[in-house]
Amino acid sequence: MNNQIEDLLNDNRIKIPKHIAIVCDGNGRWAKSKGLPRSFGHKAGTKPIENITKHCSELGVEVLTFYVFSTENWNRSYEEVNFLMKLFIEFFIKLGNKAEKNIKVRHIGAIDNLSSELISEIKKTEDLTKNNSGMILNIALNYGSRSEIANAAKNLMHNIDTENFNVDQINEELISDYMFTSKLPDVDLIIRTSGEMRISNFLLWQSAKAKLWFTNDLWPDFKYDHLKNAIKYYNEICL
Ligand code: IPE
Ligand code: MG
Repeated sequence: MNNQIEDLLNDNRIKIPKHIAIVCDGNGRWAKSKGLPRSFGHKAGTKPIENITKHCSELGVEVLTFYVFSTENWNRSYEEVNFLMKLFIEFFIKLGNKAEKNIKVRHIGAIDNLSSELISEIKKTEDLTKNNSGMILNIALNYGSRSEIANAAKNLMHNIDTENFNVDQINEELISDYMFTSKLPDVDLIIRTSGEMRISNFLLWQSAKAKLWFTNDLWPDFKYDHLKNAIKYYNEICL
């Protein structure tokens, strides 16, 4: 555990958010600024995901969600999508190998359109880490919030006959149970990098009460200090 984290943990004014959700943005611009192909930015972007996962777990965050690929991202070039999918396969294998770190890894998003190889690595990693009792790490890949809500509504209606509830019993809690994030705490803090101030169809239901923190810095440059500032902002402490 690094000293900085101890600073934050020992500061009794600080409340650690239960659920932090991060929109990792700016990989392409990071690469371009260095005269490199976009793929280098995506590769570089995996490092802060690993580091921030470790820091959040040490801080006692209960759930950390990274938005790594939206349903809209399929519109990118074939080469870029192909590169990203290969990168995700490597990424899930690596997460699975770290199963001993006590982090429970879960995929949120649709399975359709993902390759059988990627689906298989996702399942293996989820399986390897399913008994871990520490932080839950959600990887939002092929995720879209409106489609999640539409599916929840569809599944709710399908289950009316079998699950013993009627239309009048539909409430917020029941709808939450039909989301990918069923039984998890709502999002407290959303972080987005690269100066973009948009929600981009991310956890719309779960973020109803979330605080938003933005930085102009690009995702591959995201460091512990950014996380710390976001958590301080969440606590409304002047920087
Ligand atoms: C985020 O970086 C990574 C993914 C969406 C996969 P971008 O690829 O959106 O990078 P910019 O926004 O073009 O710089
Ligand atoms: Mg972007």
